[in-house]
Amino acid sequence: MTKKTIFITGASSGIGKATAIYFGQKGWNVAATMRELTKEQTSDFEKYPSITIFKLDVTDKESIEKAVSDILQKFSQIDVLFNNAGYSLAGAFEATTDEQIRKQFETNLFGVMNVTRAMLPHFRNKKSGIILNTTSSGGLLTFPLYSVYNSTKWALEGFMEALQYELKSFNIVVKNIEPATVKSEFVNNISFVSNPDYDHYAQKVQHNTLAGYKNAPTPGVVAKIVYTAATDNRSKLRYPATPQARVAFFLRWLLPLKIFNNMVASGVEKELHNK
Ligand SMILES: NC(=O)c1ccc[n+]([C@@H]2O[C@H](COP(=O)([O-])OP(=O)(O)OC[C@H]3O[C@@H](n4cnc5c(N)ncnc54)[C@H](OP(=O)(O)O)[C@@H]3O)[C@@H](O)[C@H]2O)c1
Repeated sequence: MTKKTIFITGASSGIGKATAIYFGQKGWNVAATMRELTKEQTSDFEKYPSITIFKLDVTDKESIEKAVSDILQKFSQIDVLFNNAGYSLAGAFEATTDEQIRKQFETNLFGVMNVTRAMLPHFRNKKSGIILNTTSSGGLLTFPLYSVYNSTKWALEGFMEALQYELKSFNIVVKNIEPATVKSEFVNNISFVSNPDYDHYAQKVQHNTLAGYKNAPTPGVVAKIVYTAATDNRSKLRYPATPQARVAFFLRWLLPLKIFNNMVASGVEKELHNK
């Protein structure tokens, strides 16, 4: 049987890296793409012969075209696209600049759109394909100080939910992978903006939010869900990818929005008024 191939964005660390290694161990060809091909980013892949590294910045259309063409040249076909690259802008909305917001959308939304568009002719020609996307629990729920990040992931959820209709007749399936907090470089790479008028609120809330990462699952937990989504032959759109995400989605389904929102706020606003 021919080996299947997965094309992953943002494979230099975290969920993308763990997924590349997991699929490599399962015998898949893996096109692990990343912005920088430094020794530090690539050395962990050296012991996996089925993983090949390609350079790709999702905000750069030329680099997308080149990566897709190089991957197809190497593997002849791609079975699964995993749109995973992303980062978070955080802090009070009023403190964010237009440039910071656009950059956040360029990566988390427009980058995914551009990579997906570049892959569709290939998937249509072979009359099959699976498009997986790392959205977030924050793509269906909201959290204080994450209004811009949440809006990119809500947009991604909506975009992919709508896209699935028009791709169905080409046998192209869309699936969203939805983790809550995961222990990766994500938390270290949060681009945090501040405004003195919000400092009292923002510092406490961000402190409490980051405390939630202490017991967060590893990226390997998400990689297994990605593998399930790639191989279960189901046309299911949403895959909550960590236990915390499953609980949060259940409570959101169960509770009136106002109560759910108060619960989210009290979780991260605790001790806010203590000296
Ligand atoms: N960790 C969490 O708590 C969490 C929760 C929910 C959803 N997510 C989502 O999960 C995805 C993966 O994040 P992670 O947790 O694995 O964090 P991570 O360890 O920081 O990995 C993020 C990856 O995205 C890459 N990336 C960022 N901008 C890029 C660009 N313009 N072009 C190509 N690659 C780019 C990073 O590359 P560089 O190394 O070059 O920066 C890195 O490989 C993201 O979409 C994130 O929003 C994470």
